[in-house]
Amino acid sequence: MHLIKDNSIVVTKTQFTAEEFIQKKIELLKDEVEPFFAVDLEDVCNKHIRWLTSMPRVTPHYAVKCNDDTNIIKLLAYLGAGFDCASKGEMKKVMDLGVSADRIIYANPCKQSSYIRYAQEVGVEVMTFDNEQELMKIKQVYPNAKLVLRIVTDDSNAVCRFSMKFGADLKTAFKLVEKAQEINMEVIGVSFHCGSGQMTSKAFVDAIQNARTLMSYGIKLGFDMNLLDIGGGYPGNLGTEDYFAEIAAAVNKALDEHFPDDGNIRIIAEPGRYYVASSYTLATNVIASREMVDAETGNSKYMYYINDGVYGSFNCVLYDHYVPTPSLFAKNDSNEKHTTSIWGPTCDGLDCINQSIELPKLAIGDWIYWKNMGAYTISAAVQFNGLPYGKPIYFMSKQFWDTVKAAFQTVPRKYQVETSATRVNSSDCSYEIEDDMLPWIPEDFAEDTTVVTIQ
Ligand SMILES: Cc1ncc(COP(=O)(O)O)c(C=O)c1O
Repeated sequence: MHLIKDNSIVVTKTQFTAEEFIQKKIELLKDEVEPFFAVDLEDVCNKHIRWLTSMPRVTPHYAVKCNDDTNIIKLLAYLGAGFDCASKGEMKKVMDLGVSADRIIYANPCKQSSYIRYAQEVGVEVMTFDNEQELMKIKQVYPNAKLVLRIVTDDSNAVCRFSMKFGADLKTAFKLVEKAQEINMEVIGVSFHCGSGQMTSKAFVDAIQNARTLMSYGIKLGFDMNLLDIGGGYPGNLGTEDYFAEIAAAVNKALDEHFPDDGNIRIIAEPGRYYVASSYTLATNVIASREMVDAETGNSKYMYYINDGVYGSFNCVLYDHYVPTPSLFAKNDSNEKHTTSIWGPTCDGLDCINQSIELPKLAIGDWIYWKNMGAYTISAAVQFNGLPYGKPIYFMSKQFWDTVKAAFQTVPRKYQVETSATRVNSSDCSYEIEDDMLPWIPEDFAEDTTVVTIQ
């Protein structure tokens, strides 16, 4: 069992929860305390299945920036997703894994010229823009690019807002399509992003309506505009399933109203956190602690230092407005709670994960785990102070994978998945599976990925 090391794919004989899996790994590797992620690949598959069945008209293009883990990209590529890339580096990474250029949208409205040239070289034709300067730049570098005009949204109810930086208002967007016509550039569609962690389905509905208005204008001018990109912003944490269903229902209704299926319209989205947030659970170890006694009251407060922090996996605290919640194993979960703060391992005072929380007393060497740690975590982590951050270990049960593999491999246009955890039907899975990506687990894993089987 010493084989369960970083980047392993663990094929389990029965289904495990992340907590059970972490416990198992800790039992097996008593002496090792480095932080690690338990990555539930079943959860990623289930998310994809839920997407396809909830919004069957919308092809997801996974936003690589959210978590650029090679094995996640491979799995989603295998399942038939497309990709939203923000840079040359992301396009290269995805294409090096065998994804064809027509499954990629270069969805960064403000791009470096050399990256636009790179997109042209590798055949990524579809890219977004939202201003005249960008339009002229693309005209100069890649005159045959297929353009998608990003419009502004009301993202005032989103956790991370983008509209102060990206998106044309409708008046400007009309002028931009006119300009594109004048300079003979092809505009094929409209995109928007309602903000990451969007809290209302209305934002999506309003944006779809605005996209319709713009698209109708472009079509009147003579453009063959048939691509609608409804962006990212869909929730992905555990417990957000009902809210996702509410958004999906509102989106479907708005699409049917404004973009009825005429056989010509193509609808895509750019979900990031939806796919990965809940599938990553981070396990961290308490490496130091301090008891601080209040001189006046005599009450104690406790400070715990763990081995991953805001420069590592918890950068989401700084960049993604995330408030992580610690979870403890049963042995620690006593009723007597104390005011506690949790700190990262660097020498910086900013490296605080939780300023004040009521927790039972912990000992050095105890493990704390953190759910919903897959989105905007490892993609922006650095090893400040020379300290490593959590490394992924993937797990999936053999039975589940066999079912998913059979569903997506043998009948790519119709599928049915039935496991103890999931039962889903759809008759509208229009994805082609590329033979050279089959099967990536366990036979065709990355060279540095060990596959082990545990009971
Ligand atoms: C252009 C674009 N698309 C998609 C996403 C993914 O958003 P989310 O993770 O909220 O789905 C982002 C996030 O920054 C983005 O900038």
